[in-house]
Amino acid sequence: MSQKEDLFAHQDTLAQLHEDIPLSDKLSFIHQIILQDFPFINRLAIALFDEKTDMLKTYTHSTDDPDNPITTYEAALSSAPSLRDIIDHRRPRLVQDLDIFAQGTHEHTRRIAAKGYKSSYTMPLYQSGAFIGFLFFNSLQEHPFSPAILRQIDIYGHLIALMVINELAAIRTLVAAVQATRSMTHYRDIETGKHIDRTAHYARLIARELAKNYSISDEQIEHIFLFSPLHDVGKIGIPDSILRKPGKLDDDEFDIMKTHPEKGRKIIDSILEDFSLYGLGHVSIMRNIAEYHHEAMDGSGYPKGLKGDEIPIEARISAVADVFDALTSRRAYKIPWSNEKAFALLKQLSNTKLDRDCVNALLRYPDKILAIQQRFKDDESA
Ligand code: C2E
Ligand code: SIN
Ligand code: SIN
Ligand code: FE
Ligand code: FE
Repeated sequence: MSQKEDLFAHQDTLAQLHEDIPLSDKLSFIHQIILQDFPFINRLAIALFDEKTDMLKTYTHSTDDPDNPITTYEAALSSAPSLRDIIDHRRPRLVQDLDIFAQGTHEHTRRIAAKGYKSSYTMPLYQSGAFIGFLFFNSLQEHPFSPAILRQIDIYGHLIALMVINELAAIRTLVAAVQATRSMTHYRDIETGKHIDRTAHYARLIARELAKNYSISDEQIEHIFLFSPLHDVGKIGIPDSILRKPGKLDDDEFDIMKTHPEKGRKIIDSILEDFSLYGLGHVSIMRNIAEYHHEAMDGSGYPKGLKGDEIPIEARISAVADVFDALTSRRAYKIPWSNEKAFALLKQLSNTKLDRDCVNALLRYPDKILAIQQRFKDDESA
């Protein structure tokens, strides 16, 4: 070996973190590295906290036993005194024997214990001093964590925390940039903020219901929730004379209207480019929703005329959320329909244009739909 080559003999053990991969893949990779030294750490998990709703929800995880996941739940933080304690102390918590939580009533504790985990080290995560969630290190063994081991695990914990913070900041920038683009146009006048919220919640409801059969991760569900309201951002490129026309569009007008999905994808691409956000995991979810939310299962949609599985699942989900909200909302060209009438049309369309699984997922929860509509009511004077 020449001396020159020797300078580069060492391979950075964490080099993979340079790659443009989703957070979940980075977490799995770090987990592999941790397992080399600490084979008893069977699971890493991140739960994020939403201050507005006091909800703690699973975000992403890595488990050495893939048949043993704990995914897709959210629960109020106020219902978890043991987790609240961690925030009050502003310190990590070490539980060497989860039996002491046998009386625990919190969803998270219950699920952890049910999967046979015996011990856990839980770090609170902070962004600019504000609490944003928890990082869990879980083990199937009792008493595996010594002070010397914890000192090393703390470093991994902070590395993971920085990755999470970086990802959340990038998502926030992206959503803010797209919202700013929208609010600078008349588009806001025709589709209200409430419509945006409802669409997001319908899409999440559907995504959660499909998660198991379609292998949709919590992280992907969250991205579908965040990005589906932006599906029509391309409408900012459609003239008011068409967008706000009180009556039916003629063929030429509708041809122009049909350019909004591609316009939307281009707007998103230019924002990703301007803010250097291509490295963000799952940006494809956002691009696909904008571009493909008017594709139809039978190939009769636009812009590409894709069929069935060729249409990304996130776009099929958004399509159902979009159509349902368009039907049940006031538009320049129509009065709002009742939920029952909208359900009937969705059922009918699920044989041709809409994905049947997505429609069934939504229709399974008429009560949740009502709750979303109550919570995000259109201001009739607007
Ligand atoms: P949008 O208002 O967000 O509607 C989204 C989708 O919901 C529509 O996609 C359509 O699939 C469904 N939808 C909405 N209202 C109705 C309805 O009354 N009956 C039925 N069967 N389906 C409905 P589509 O058709 O590709 O339209 C895309 C966009 O074009 C609409 O977005 C809206 O902005 C505009 N548009 C569609 N039809 C008209 C119209 O007759 N007049 C005007 N001014 N705009 C229209
Ligand atoms: C808890 O919910 O209080 C503990 C479970 C864990 O640390 O993973
Ligand atoms: C959902 O699960 O996302 C719908 C319920 C809600 O958040 O209102
Ligand atoms: Fe659209
Ligand atoms: Fe729409």
